[in-house]
Amino acid sequence: MIHRMRDVVVAANWKMHTTPAEAGDLARTIAARTRVAGVTRVICPPFVGLAAVRDALAGSDPDVGVGAQNVHHELQGAYTGEVSAPMLVGLATWVIVGHSERRRDAAETDELVGRKLGRALDAGLRPILCVGEQLGEREGGEQEAVVDRQLRGALRDLGPDVLRAGGLVIAYEPVWAIGTGRNASGRDAAIMAGAIRSILTGLGWDAGADDVPVLYGGSVTSANIAEFLAEPSIDGALVGGASLKPDEMAGIVARAGLTAAARSAAG
Ligand code: PGA
Repeated sequence: MIHRMRDVVVAANWKMHTTPAEAGDLARTIAARTRVAGVTRVICPPFVGLAAVRDALAGSDPDVGVGAQNVHHELQGAYTGEVSAPMLVGLATWVIVGHSERRRDAAETDELVGRKLGRALDAGLRPILCVGEQLGEREGGEQEAVVDRQLRGALRDLGPDVLRAGGLVIAYEPVWAIGTGRNASGRDAAIMAGAIRSILTGLGWDAGADDVPVLYGGSVTSANIAEFLAEPSIDGALVGGASLKPDEMAGIVARAGLTAAARSAAG
């Protein structure tokens, strides 16, 4: 069976960095430094920077996607300080759900993450679902069980057809590698990408599991991206700290372009 070549995706998660004015300028600079064929680029600024990034990119590089870092699980209501999926329409076309910092700081459960995912899909936002184990879980050899639980919990009420049609991307982000400068090995990330696709197969995705892009995230830099993209099961990266640096993004996306070119030559 011939599978569609999976997208190569580099997504920048700026976390709680940049004012709106800084975000617009930084997005324009990064876009100009990362024009590489075949790589899907996404920039996820803070909510308040979405309009500035959208406007900056519309004028310079409309191919770069704009993503939110979170979305609420309800459509509207008495939820002070929150932002719903319909409110993001027109500002973003992507959204990160289930990031480990939100699981940690906002006590997001797998069930809640699943509801967010459903809202994102209903609004036509392409979701990047984050999963990954804590250090103690990795040391206990529980990483696959953790990701299994996270995926089953989040995807419980969402069928493969809906998720595939909505362009689901999964980011494997071991928590101990996020912001620590200690990245997983390419081999370990590939093992987890394989585990993620097996879990999806077990959830009824069958061969469709092979079409889902799986990214690695956790201390990705221009110096280590090659190790991940050398693995055929890894389709790109979710980049935090390094994504605020245009030189780093230029290096990461350039390397992703080599993978995209090799895949299209092979496909
Ligand atoms: P990091 O963050 O690249 O700074 O480790 C990655 C992420 O949290 O998505």
